[in-house]
Amino acid sequence: MTAAISNLAYLLAAVLFIFGLKRLSSPATARSGNMVASLGMLIAIVTTLLFEGILNWPMIIIGIVIGSTIGLTFAKTVTMTAMPQMVALLNGFGGGASAVVASAEYARYINAGGEIPLNFGIAIQLSIVIGWLTFSGSVIAFGKLQELVTGRAVTYPLQKTVNAVLLTGMLLLVVTLVAQPDNVPLFLALSAAALLLGILSVIPIGGADMPVVISLLNSYSGLAASMTGFVINNEGLIISGALVGASGLILTNIMCKAMNRSLANVLFGAFGSTVQEIGAGGDGGEKSYRSLSHEDAATMLAYAKQVVIAPGYGLAVSQAQHAVRELADLLQARGVIVKYAIHPVAGRMPGHMNVLLAEADVPYDQLYDMDQINPEMPRTDVSVTVGANDVVNPAARHDTTSPLYGMPILDVDKAHHAIVMKRSMRPGFAGVDNELFYLPNTSMLFGDAKDSFKKLIEAVKEV
Ligand code: TAP
Repeated sequence: MTAAISNLAYLLAAVLFIFGLKRLSSPATARSGNMVASLGMLIAIVTTLLFEGILNWPMIIIGIVIGSTIGLTFAKTVTMTAMPQMVALLNGFGGGASAVVASAEYARYINAGGEIPLNFGIAIQLSIVIGWLTFSGSVIAFGKLQELVTGRAVTYPLQKTVNAVLLTGMLLLVVTLVAQPDNVPLFLALSAAALLLGILSVIPIGGADMPVVISLLNSYSGLAASMTGFVINNEGLIISGALVGASGLILTNIMCKAMNRSLANVLFGAFGSTVQEIGAGGDGGEKSYRSLSHEDAATMLAYAKQVVIAPGYGLAVSQAQHAVRELADLLQARGVIVKYAIHPVAGRMPGHMNVLLAEADVPYDQLYDMDQINPEMPRTDVSVTVGANDVVNPAARHDTTSPLYGMPILDVDKAHHAIVMKRSMRPGFAGVDNELFYLPNTSMLFGDAKDSFKKLIEAVKEV
């Protein structure tokens, strides 16, 4: 009877998780989605505390107090731009927790001297492997993004071979341990090997590719939790782990597609380690570009019918979200239609631009996805590219030699006039020159984006 009630409560929690996830897919409903999913988690936790034969209440309460205090402090203090490393840490903790729980269950079986049933044996080994790998990989990802270790791809001879040998060795250990579960030294060796593989598989990936890796590690942490759910017979954990595993994988896939890279290329390609020489054409000749003054740009914007703003990573670097909103308000007051073009991988984390613009209270209905805004570009008077580079590079359409080839881009070059706001002619994340800068309808507006917006705001007021 109690099992039936707890299973029903876990089912209710799972339904709330799914509704929460659905609502998270739009900025307008994301907050309530978070609340719905949190309610599901509360139900799952209370159910576990009431029905799972808790042995030591004081320890659990101490754990809840410490964990909640740390979580609350992080949630209140971590800046938006530090969110990827925060998520990396959370994934790591999730993976580590799964591995610790599975280890504790293993120790319980060994100490009791009983036989480990085959299905539990397999679930324990998989929890250990995925959990520890997620933990150490996430700690390295955190270190790279927090610049505690080098953000560059660390490579050495025979790297892939070493990783392949380690992985094969681990698979052999898993098989051996399933056959002889009470072999504790082998169990410890498997745990150590998983920790080592997590480190070795993340160090060859460049810091800027970390968001994709973090999303993949997020998926792993879900798988580890799901496996641990089988180990401790907890349906709530099995379902929620599977949801995290699946959604992490879907997000990884979306990011890879939008970057036009395969997952294998992200994981093994050591991307971004080379930088192309800028300003030199393929034939070695110098290319010319036009730059314009803030006053001229302001006049162009003030007299436009429609302006499309395409933000990128530089908007986050210069924290220009409030300034861009102020300029947009000013233009709208003059009757100019202002729209924001959002590329799925602009910036450095999923939804980066949405989060920044939401911070400045830009209304959601002014945000347009790439597929919605591109058909409007030919009838747009001025496109304003702010700190974006790769996501507006026309080479992605036709240059088969470009690493960006095939990546869907924002068609800012198709507007009657394209203004590009950045500090220099330096390349973006992919390290390649941008054809956009040299087109006859493009003008460069050099300077830090926030400073430039302030100057534009003053100049528009004068027009
Ligand atoms: P990028 O191609 O990286 O270009 C950003 C540009 O911003 C730079 O060229 C830089 O030029 C400019 N910038 C930097 N600081 C600035 C400042 N203070 N003021 C004005 N401009 C500034 O960015 P993007 O177009 O957003 O493309 C994102 C790239 O990251 C893509 O290649 C994508 O595949 C990759 N990526 C994205 C994600 C996700 S999930 N979003 C994850 C991993 C990788 P200056 O130095 O000349 O100013």
